[in-house]
Amino acid sequence: MSIEKILITGASGYLAQFIIDRLHGEYQLTLIDLVEPDRAPAGTTFIKADVTNPAEIEAACAGQDAVVHLVALVRGRSDKPASLFADVMVKGTWNVAEACVKQDVQKLVNISSISACPPAPSAKLPYEVSDDFQFGAGDLYYALAKYLGEQIGAAYHQAHGLDVIHVRPGVIAGDGQNPGPSAPDIVTDPWFVYVDPRDVAQCVARAIETQTVRYGSYNAVAGRTDSRFAWKQAEDDLGYSPEHNWPEIPGGDA
Ligand SMILES: NC(=O)c1ccc[n+]([C@@H]2O[C@H](COP(=O)([O-])OP(=O)(O)OC[C@H]3O[C@@H](n4cnc5c(N)ncnc54)[C@H](O)[C@@H]3O)[C@@H](O)[C@H]2O)c1
Repeated sequence: MSIEKILITGASGYLAQFIIDRLHGEYQLTLIDLVEPDRAPAGTTFIKADVTNPAEIEAACAGQDAVVHLVALVRGRSDKPASLFADVMVKGTWNVAEACVKQDVQKLVNISSISACPPAPSAKLPYEVSDDFQFGAGDLYYALAKYLGEQIGAAYHQAHGLDVIHVRPGVIAGDGQNPGPSAPDIVTDPWFVYVDPRDVAQCVARAIETQTVRYGSYNAVAGRTDSRFAWKQAEDDLGYSPEHNWPEIPGGDA
């Protein structure tokens, strides 16, 4: 079945604006968030809804063909309690997956993170999504909530046949939370962890378009040889082709 109508959660956030820009010409978009977006392209519909409220998210999913789920605790998360991550990210993602099934949505594109499965010290680099991972104490609530979000998607794919693609962005350049890429003085391992938000949006578009991948997790990072997280699987399976790769920073030539 073809996808025409897409619901975007967390639509007023930083990354969402790039995804909306990428998708809005081709699809009918409904945007949900706790707050209204500063700007939304003509033809999009905004609904104020809270993903922790099952009734609100189920109502928003009615008539949708796909959902791109972005809600997470991103800004200023370091002092927030575990219970809030459980509510907003774990329960919120569970509500979204359940609403998809109840409303016959075909596909869920879940915006996860490279933090979902932190590479174990023994993992080879660049890190593939199937390699060993190991949580650390730093940012554990966020990492664990992202991991559990992917497990919820896996369960709903297995149990109900919902198509689920997890897109794991690297550190998103320009989001105001990080200084952006600059090479370390001494480079021993692949170190580059960044991605341009326009390339994440491209990966999301590919995940919406694919007719062959019914389930999978994909790193969405810059297309560089020194990327710490492998992106070739996304290229092979989805046709992801990152275009904004910081050529002025040496060491990343293909
Ligand atoms: N920024 C990064 O570097 C980065 C890296 C990897 C992955 N990601 C992921 O990308 C996604 C978007 O990140 P971002 O940087 O745009 O974050 P953001 O904080 O700008 O956007 C999150 C949006 O979710 C909304 N929201 C929060 N709680 C909600 C609720 N209960 N119901 C409805 N809406 C709610 C917020 O109002 C906000 O507009 C997140 O899933 C994040 O984990 C971000």
